[in-house]
Amino acid sequence: MNKSPWSMSNADGQAPSPGPAPKGQAAPTSLLEVSGVDKRFGGLAALTEVSLTVHAGELYGLIGPNAAGNTTLFNCMTGLYSVTEGQIRLSGEAIQGLKPHAIVQRGFARTFQNIRLFSNMTALENVMVGRHPRTRAGVLGAVLRTAAERREEAAIRETAHDWLERVGLKNKGRSLAGHLPYGAQRRLEIARALATEPRILALDEPVAGMNPSERREMADLFLRLRHDHQLTLLLIEHDVKLVMGLCDRVAVLDYGRKIAEGNPAAVQRDPAVIKAYLGGHAA
Ligand SMILES: Nc1ncnc2c1ncn2[C@@H]1O[C@H](COP(=O)(O)OP(=O)(O)OP(=O)(O)O)[C@@H](O)[C@H]1O
Ligand SMILES: [Mg+2]
Repeated sequence: MNKSPWSMSNADGQAPSPGPAPKGQAAPTSLLEVSGVDKRFGGLAALTEVSLTVHAGELYGLIGPNAAGNTTLFNCMTGLYSVTEGQIRLSGEAIQGLKPHAIVQRGFARTFQNIRLFSNMTALENVMVGRHPRTRAGVLGAVLRTAAERREEAAIRETAHDWLERVGLKNKGRSLAGHLPYGAQRRLEIARALATEPRILALDEPVAGMNPSERREMADLFLRLRHDHQLTLLLIEHDVKLVMGLCDRVAVLDYGRKIAEGNPAAVQRDPAVIKAYLGGHAA
């Protein structure tokens, strides 16, 4: 059989080619290291001995058939789930077991497969909330509203406007988040995550439900963010063509195990990957 699993993708195959890798890196610096991670839910092994290393400045893709364990891995990395076994390090520091906000403060932000916005707040307010982990004014400050706090809020507002503009939502600041079209909500989630000033941003299916031209725009946005903000990007995506066209390296999970990792060309030739996607009919 000569069928390629990548033809099952619903993208139009015109993802942009990867941008230049960040300059000045002789040897890659590992930013995120996942070592021997297991996650069990009762009898279900959602992740088994997953290890991977993401380098600073990399665009790293995570793919896999449905229920492969990708979101679970994000949840373990970002403190929503505790790991059953194994270690997760950010810049050498163990982060497993830390609360989500503590992981955000260390520079690791994410978006969610099921969009999580405050739908009755404006787009701008949603981004300002994202900024909260980086602000100094606490609850008392909010009540007392000293001049310093007012200045800080004005600065937050300005930065939030900047982030909205950078994700393509320049004039949407006053719209209620819940009234924005779906694609704009996905962009807003990214702006909110960016407002925490991450070094690494994990995106869980950020182009799901978008048409091909919206997908291309999002791919351009990811490349721009990496270039302009020296961001490292981790991308879970079922649009395999987009991932293959965009990412420096790709890992494939299947039934909670990493079955392949490498550059896109090698991964899409890997018999184990072809078998996982075609349900046992390896080419
Ligand atoms: N909180 C939970 N409790 C019990 N089982 C869970 C929980 N979270 C995930 N699972 C199970 O873990 C497995 C992996 O799920 P996960 O959501 O990580 O997959 P995924 O790769 O993100 O899938 P999809 O591509 O469909 O989003 C599934 O069998 C799922 O039912
Ligand atoms: Mg998922």
